[in-house]
Amino acid sequence: ALQLTLAVIKPDAVAHPLILEALHQKILKNKFIIVRSKDLIWRRQDSERFYAEHKGRFFYQRLVEFMSSGPMRAYILARENAISQWRELMGPTKVFRARYIAPGTIRALYGLTDTRNTTHGSDSVESAQREIAFFFPEFSVEEWMEQT
Ligand code: CMP
Repeated sequence: ALQLTLAVIKPDAVAHPLILEALHQKILKNKFIIVRSKDLIWRRQDSERFYAEHKGRFFYQRLVEFMSSGPMRAYILARENAISQWRELMGPTKVFRARYIAPGTIRALYGLTDTRNTTHGSDSVESAQREIAFFFPEFSVEEWMEQT
């Protein structure tokens, strides 16, 4: 069955046209259906709201600042096991782990730091629902599922 996930190309990657294009091609090559996509810029308060669960962590300030520092691209992606498949393509959050343990993954190839790590992906069905609604408030998962 098709599953939906939310994928985000973060400001560090959108800033570089070749990386943005490489990531877009990677999505297509890995048989994801691009259900929706949009380019957007977060205000600081959007960033704080999205990452509220990390409030108080040592990297919170730099994370919310970074995520509201420039344009991003968000995708709703569909595939079998979309959530885990996209996370597998991304690799681990931390860049040094990505490079040593998962070479060839997106973060290993393009990640700059643990904060500026190129992409985001939902980590569960519940977070996919929440994050899709956050980025695409007009999108109805139920309606889309009924039509496919
Ligand atoms: P993301 O998948 O968007 O989820 C939370 C984000 O916090 C993560 O990617 C990183 O950008 C950031 N993050 C997580 N861990 C660290 C860390 N140890 N140091 C700095 N930033 C981090």
